[in-house]
Amino acid sequence: MATAMPPTVCWAQTRAGPAVRLIDQTLLPGELVLKDCYVLEEVCEAIKSLRVRGAPAIGCSAALGVALAVYTSGADSTSELISVVEAAAEQLAATRPTAVNLFWALERMRQLAQQSTDLPPEDFRQVLLEEAQGIVDDDLDRCRRIGQHGVELIAKGANILTHCNAGALATAGYGTALGVIRAAHQQSKDIHVWVDETRPLLQGARLTAWELEQEGIPCTVICDSAAASLMQAGQVDCVVVGADRITANGDVANKIGTYAIAVAAARHEVPFYVAAPLSTLDFSLASGQEIPIEQRSSEEVCYLAGRVADPICPEGADVYNPAFDVTPAELIAAIITEVGVARQPLAASLAGLSSEDSSAGCCSSS
Ligand code: MRU
Repeated sequence: MATAMPPTVCWAQTRAGPAVRLIDQTLLPGELVLKDCYVLEEVCEAIKSLRVRGAPAIGCSAALGVALAVYTSGADSTSELISVVEAAAEQLAATRPTAVNLFWALERMRQLAQQSTDLPPEDFRQVLLEEAQGIVDDDLDRCRRIGQHGVELIAKGANILTHCNAGALATAGYGTALGVIRAAHQQSKDIHVWVDETRPLLQGARLTAWELEQEGIPCTVICDSAAASLMQAGQVDCVVVGADRITANGDVANKIGTYAIAVAAARHEVPFYVAAPLSTLDFSLASGQEIPIEQRSSEEVCYLAGRVADPICPEGADVYNPAFDVTPAELIAAIITEVGVARQPLAASLAGLSSEDSSAGCCSSS
């Protein structure tokens, strides 16, 4: 029987004080545990260690983290609280470099703080919390709309391949790539999902398969290295993935391994779709070559599920562990957003769609 899923991340009033409450995704699928972060440093640690992860969910957590910083600060003037916001934004911005939603959300919080200098401290705290909660609610709504647009691209009986986790766990709920898949399932399209396990941290096997099982959506976990041969065998009708950052020309940064899938999909004429909210657009960057790619620790590659007693590499092996790669726009059939589907040429199509919504491509970031 399916476990009711709590929000990926939310604000909580606990006996010990206000907290940012999140599902600790490092413990899934074994245990569904909620972690309450009572201080900003715990929110930063949760983002860095991937307790909360996925571009939109990182943005939501960062916004709530800023609110937590002002609620836990003893400052009794609004000018001091503005300094607290600036310092919190700086700390949060240093957690992970690739997902632009983090910087987008921080910019929204900073701008609101700068516009609220006239408010007394308690009202200032309140408006910042409302803004953070608004970012969370809005993300859920946008994911549902992505699902509604994307479902039109999914044929009845389709075998869909996805990589990493772009589901409810990676957003405020519902998901982007999994939002499209959920919507197709809800419309009884009789779909089946191939789930890439997604080495090294197994977001596909641990999180996507768990989410799909909760929903009763038929799925099969595969090793990442099995994807191309499944396409060769005609077993994949389309690929749907999420995104961490989309540049002005339509290049897409997403979980490492996404590019290899896009190359294989092009070879086998399988449509490759990206699903993402407009908050993932970064029009300040001309192309994907400018996207900062996070490098993570060698331990993630050398030990399975953190089992340090049981290394899978010789001790001291040199390891290269980029968390993301960039798929060039030319390999992408369409980008599904909450305001519609961008098609080739993606640069013009994305610019047109984003002009319909003020949240698009708004921030410059590291
Ligand atoms: O390192 P992660 O787990 O944060 O990477 C997540 C991804 O690459 C997702 O595909 C992306 O953030 C989109 S989530 C809707």
